[in-house]
Amino acid sequence: MAVIENAKVAVVGAGAVGASTAYALLIRNSARQVALYDINTARVEAEVLDLAHGAMFTGSSNITGGSDLSAVEGAHVVVITAGAAQRPGQTRLELIGTNARIFETMLPQLLSVAPDAVYVIVSNPCDVLTTLAVEQTGLPPQRLFASGTVLDTSRLRWRLSQRAGVAPSSVHAHIIGEHGDTEFPLWSSATIGPVPLLDWKAEGHPPLRQEELDGIAHDVRHAAYTVIQGKGATNYAIGLSAARIVEAVLQDEHAVLPVSTVLDDFHGLDGVALSVPSIVSSSGARPISETPFDESELSLLHTSAEALQDIAAQVRG
Ligand code: LAC
Repeated sequence: MAVIENAKVAVVGAGAVGASTAYALLIRNSARQVALYDINTARVEAEVLDLAHGAMFTGSSNITGGSDLSAVEGAHVVVITAGAAQRPGQTRLELIGTNARIFETMLPQLLSVAPDAVYVIVSNPCDVLTTLAVEQTGLPPQRLFASGTVLDTSRLRWRLSQRAGVAPSSVHAHIIGEHGDTEFPLWSSATIGPVPLLDWKAEGHPPLRQEELDGIAHDVRHAAYTVIQGKGATNYAIGLSAARIVEAVLQDEHAVLPVSTVLDDFHGLDGVALSVPSIVSSSGARPISETPFDESELSLLHTSAEALQDIAAQVRG
């Protein structure tokens, strides 16, 4: 596979997350053509207009869209943000009934107009929806995956970067597992630059201790609840995360990102989607099986997988 020229990205769902994803794609110049699609005509047309009015400032990226499925036609990447969103206090997993039904109807329609696209699921609960979507469509897991814990990883790196006084891009740490309450950091392999976290000495600060790291992990796990409590939704950071994943696909980057794919013989896990460090390129996402886990991380990974399997089993009936 190779870099995709003149790429088209379709964003499905013109709610806060879909609109912010389209906005991020445009201002980052991630793709030549960004198309926004939603069944709510008034909403999607207004969002497309609002985004198009910034055309003078968005380089060569172009926005189109509407409520006709043809908006998605020929997309190289389809980002799905449609469905119910978390309300204050609600968990992501509580959305599964509504969103699984929406996906069941929507996926065949999207596939009929964009049969060869790479699909990135952002709607929640993204891991369970991905597991069910791969079962429903029969697509290779590589080509249909979720944004997973890419956002949570950014939240973690932001916190660590502030504490350590280095750029977020120089913090090498991942949140993995469910994009939700059972997610956890891979502390055993985390470093700042080349330095293991607990050896890092930030000028004028005491060294990092495990208790502080555990507090940061707790905050990251609860970050979306905090934002939703205050403003009713999260949208900007997830929009940026989705745009980043799209770029890795379109540029055939082979970037390591913790997206959520249906796992196959991954440290004892099969047939369940959750995030692990993966290589993202134009052919999609491939989990890195060599990822090292210590004993407690492996057990957390399996606990997270079991929680997700339980929900998927309930939906299957
Ligand atoms: C969040 C939503 C996207 O974590 O699940 O902000």
